[in-house]
Amino acid sequence: MTQLKAKVAIVTGAGQGIGAAVAAAYAEEGAKVAVVDLNREAAEKVALEIRGAGGDAIAVPCNVAQRAQVDAMVGEISSRYGRVDILVNNAGIIRPAMLTKMTEEQWDAVVNVHLKGSYNCLQAVAPGMMERKYGRIINVTSAAGLLGTIGQINYSAAKAGIVGLTMSAARELAKFGITVNAIAPGAATPMTEVIRTDERFKEKYLERIPMGRWAEPAEIAPAFVFFASPGASYVTGQILAADGGMTIR
Ligand SMILES: NC(=O)c1ccc[n+]([C@@H]2O[C@H](COP(=O)([O-])OP(=O)(O)OC[C@H]3O[C@@H](n4cnc5c(N)ncnc54)[C@H](O)[C@@H]3O)[C@@H](O)[C@H]2O)c1
Repeated sequence: MTQLKAKVAIVTGAGQGIGAAVAAAYAEEGAKVAVVDLNREAAEKVALEIRGAGGDAIAVPCNVAQRAQVDAMVGEISSRYGRVDILVNNAGIIRPAMLTKMTEEQWDAVVNVHLKGSYNCLQAVAPGMMERKYGRIINVTSAAGLLGTIGQINYSAAKAGIVGLTMSAARELAKFGITVNAIAPGAATPMTEVIRTDERFKEKYLERIPMGRWAEPAEIAPAFVFFASPGASYVTGQILAADGGMTIR
């Protein structure tokens, strides 16, 4: 398992859920991983687990919605490891509400973490990658951003925005040897706990997944490995759904 040997990877929102599984999978493939999360304790726990399994990881607390914190985070990782080769923009939150009930705070919070956060991190790592003519950016979108959803217009708009961000950055950075792709995942994480367990939503959501089950985060982490791997060197601007078929059109 050496597909990412000696590569330096940042995974945001890696304190739990999908990000934690991606950080572990990257470390297993030989990458040096920066476990970035708003939640310092969660990030430290994940980094400790990776080191316990023989991997190389550090925890870096950061709110990706705050540009100054992102610059400091990328600066810290660059001085520790010398560069950043891979960025996974995974950090996310949900603030559900129906359209007419949604507050400005709910809208701003979700758009700021997902869309502005992805942009902040992308812009912070891009100059170094352009200089070295190498980079792998993996953004995280959602079925909500591809098909729309009810009760999460903030999240759906931010995730659709990430599709545009991915395609534009892919076109702009291609000539620098940098690929930019996105994954639309589906997995059993704290974020999906309510829709997986609450009797009001459980069956309805499960019916939307042709495979009829939720994946564990470790089952979809290989899709993130693929986009960062040498085998994906000629793949850019693409959206890959690892969602049990939820977004089949
Ligand atoms: N789980 C799914 O089925 C699913 C489906 C579609 C898309 N996604 C997307 O996948 C990504 C990961 O989702 P998850 O299910 O693992 O979520 P999760 O809630 O389990 O984990 C999200 C992590 O992001 C961190 N985070 C939140 N705000 C942050 C910020 N401002 N700065 C840094 N870190 C922050 C949290 O502390 C947490 O550790 C998200 O972008 C989410 O929208 C998940």
